[in-house]
Amino acid sequence: MKLEVLKFPDPRLREKSVDVTDFSELKKLSEDMFETMYAENGIGLAAPQVGELIRMLVIDCRPRENKDRYDIEGMSELEKKITQPLVIINPKILRSEGKTTFEEGCLSVPTFFDTVERARWIELEYFDVTGKKCRLETDGLLAIVIQHEMDHLEGTLFIDHLSLIKSNKIKNQIKKHGYPQKDKQGEQEEDLVPAGGGGRGL
Ligand code: CO
Repeated sequence: MKLEVLKFPDPRLREKSVDVTDFSELKKLSEDMFETMYAENGIGLAAPQVGELIRMLVIDCRPRENKDRYDIEGMSELEKKITQPLVIINPKILRSEGKTTFEEGCLSVPTFFDTVERARWIELEYFDVTGKKCRLETDGLLAIVIQHEMDHLEGTLFIDHLSLIKSNKIKNQIKKHGYPQKDKQGEQEEDLVPAGGGGRGL
């Protein structure tokens, strides 16, 4: 079942999500989250984005047919070793190294994109959907998506990482005018939207 994705400034996106303690009821939610993410052309989705304030993410940022915009630099060797799609529960970053930047978007802040700095490499501990404890290390787009989705668990959005001026400009524009209609995206202020108004929904 496709779920409704909450959009900024919905206050539920600002809540801190709680740890999952009961793994017995998560299968249906994870399936619904994947269905929602794929329908919206997203590459990651956090449970609080669909109003479930639990520490759970779904991710599939593999290159997809006819979606070469997700395959910015190809998959890294570390990314290739990890089986996707991924359900990640109660994630904890054990170690991180380096810095990287990427032009991020978010299904909860549609039509807006901007460059965000993240750690380049992370080592992550998490539980899978069956409650099994897992560990992975990755860089590339997968590391970026994991960090973006983990922010949602703290009530943080990618626009919070921008300069105060840029961040306030986007927030005020959305609060004042809402989101642009799909057929009117071209009329938006140019510096807020990349050429072609592409889409990297995280
Ligand atoms: Co997001």
